[in-house]
Amino acid sequence: MTQIPRAGVIGNPISHSLSPKLHSYWLNRYGIEGAYTALQVTEDKLESTLCDLPGKGFIGANVTLPHKVSVLQFADQVTDRATLIGAANTLIFKQDGRIFADNTDGYGFMASLRQGAPDWDPKAGPAAIFGAGGAARAIIVALADAGVPEIILANRTRAKAEALRADFGARVSIVDWVQADKMLEDANTVINTTSLGMTGAQEFKVSLDTLSPKAVVTDIVYTPLQTPFLIAAAERGCTTVDGLGMLLHQGVPGFERWFGQRPEVDEATRAAVLA
Ligand code: ATR
Repeated sequence: MTQIPRAGVIGNPISHSLSPKLHSYWLNRYGIEGAYTALQVTEDKLESTLCDLPGKGFIGANVTLPHKVSVLQFADQVTDRATLIGAANTLIFKQDGRIFADNTDGYGFMASLRQGAPDWDPKAGPAAIFGAGGAARAIIVALADAGVPEIILANRTRAKAEALRADFGARVSIVDWVQADKMLEDANTVINTTSLGMTGAQEFKVSLDTLSPKAVVTDIVYTPLQTPFLIAAAERGCTTVDGLGMLLHQGVPGFERWFGQRPEVDEATRAAVLA
């Protein structure tokens, strides 16, 4: 009996993940016989799960918290961008048993930004980033690749911003968290990568008084879709891009590699995931 190709998302907890909805929608939309499921895996079971999945018909997987960093030690081949970011979110199980690991978060961010703000010019000025966690790392790599001339960071814990600068070099500068609005003065792109503004979390309070209405403002938070930060930026006249697009676009490269079809991220995709 031939098995249908399977993929899934590995994490803990995993019930909140939108990836099963997204990939199942795409499988259905393109009439592909395959399956995509949520896989709740604790840290101590990560290695054995990765060994077992190919035998169960799995051709790949997405990886989410808390395994995005630790999964790298079990990969046989890691893309340059995943190495630079220090984390992976997409795995391919090769037929010879080897595991290929990539990080598509930065790609997802950039594809979402270009879709939501088609006139965005990476070279038009600095990018200002709030936060210095895993998402910020992936976004910095993508922004630098796109040719953004300067990246300014503000993070509550300054040491984490310093660590990012040490990894990414001269193009990154740091502003104190309490003076974070200072980095908005010349910014062409503004990104909230913290969890502030998420439903149930603290509000994200920053003055946008010095921000140019020409700036493009994005938030990686997508619950709610229109965060108070995005609403304030839109009121200032800025183009805004919500966080759902990054999540949807980061799934594209994996789906294409596993199932042989490059999937669309459009209104129908958004509606299916939000339903
Ligand atoms: P992710 O992988 O989504 O980036 P993370 O690595 O846990 O998640 O990073 C979360 C980011 O949100 C960090 O920049 C964190 O700041 P610290 O480095 O100081 O922890 C930021 N963050 C979370 N809660 C915050 C809060 N209440 N105020 C300010 N920043 C906060």
